[in-house]
Amino acid sequence: MLEKLEELQKEFRESVGTLADKNSLADFKADYLGKKGKLNDILKGMREASADVRKTVGAKANEFKQEIQDSLSAQLLKIETAAINAKLEENWQDISFTDSVKAKGLLAAGYHPVTIIQREIEDIFISMGFDILDGPHIEDDFHNFEALNIPDTHPARDMQDTFWFADMKHLLRTHTSTIQVRGMEANDPPFKFIGPGKVFRCEATDASHEMAFHQLEGMMVGKDISVANLIYFMKALLSEIFRQDVNVRLRPGFFPFVEPGFELDIECLICAGKGCSVCKQTGWVELLPCGMIHPNVLKAGGIDPKKWNGFAFGLGLDRLVMMRYHIDDIRHLHGADLRFAEQFKSY
Ligand code: PHE
Repeated sequence: MLEKLEELQKEFRESVGTLADKNSLADFKADYLGKKGKLNDILKGMREASADVRKTVGAKANEFKQEIQDSLSAQLLKIETAAINAKLEENWQDISFTDSVKAKGLLAAGYHPVTIIQREIEDIFISMGFDILDGPHIEDDFHNFEALNIPDTHPARDMQDTFWFADMKHLLRTHTSTIQVRGMEANDPPFKFIGPGKVFRCEATDASHEMAFHQLEGMMVGKDISVANLIYFMKALLSEIFRQDVNVRLRPGFFPFVEPGFELDIECLICAGKGCSVCKQTGWVELLPCGMIHPNVLKAGGIDPKKWNGFAFGLGLDRLVMMRYHIDDIRHLHGADLRFAEQFKSY
């Protein structure tokens, strides 16, 4: 009997680990411990056995019963754990910021640095009572050249600078000064406004030149406006923007639509005036061309130059952004490289 018991125990130990679900566990248990099960089958002859045998076999049988119970419970736990793990594996979701999540478009959005600076400047000018005007990218000769006192022979009309449409009448605006003309057409003086926007030039690109870039035009028309007024507004603008002392210089500049005309340069903040690719080794960056509005321009805009005068400026927005954030190549601004764009997220 003891031998049979030991054989059964061996058989049990070999097969219990192979049970893979609850039903086969229940069947297995009945097979061993049930009334007509394998254990009772062996113990059938107990009544006729001697007291000694009954004692040893009884003890062994009880031990075995306990082993069966324990092993079956352990196997059940194993099966259940495996089932939970399988389910977890199946429903697994990565909630961390990995590349796969970014690719699904869950990346936090941010503003382009040009937008950030443009809005800052808009706020400054709004606080000084300026309006904000817009204008079309596709313009005609009149708004881009004619009304701005740019004669037919002016080099700015050269095919190299201007993207003309096939009809040779329309073009991509080469500067936001077109908004000056549209602003004069739409308003009676006195008025003051700014006009930010994209402009286009057919030029070779390098660290400081792009074919598409941004300007921010400004115009103020009123009575007895002077160069001193112009300089006051330009200084206010620069000190608000940079919030630090920047060295500036004013020199004469020629633009057909202003008289007198000026170039307002700032000392290059990228190289601290030492000379680099952005300032073309000069230490200075042309940032703010400006001047007193030419009487012909006022006339073309339907304004009597005997009664009114004013100033205009055309801020180079991309260059300003580059100075503010120490960006050493304008091509980064249009490069669509996310590693560049992501740096500005927190602004
Ligand atoms: N429109 C000029 C340019 O693009 C800049 C400018 C604007 C100069 C207003 C004077 C006054 O170069």
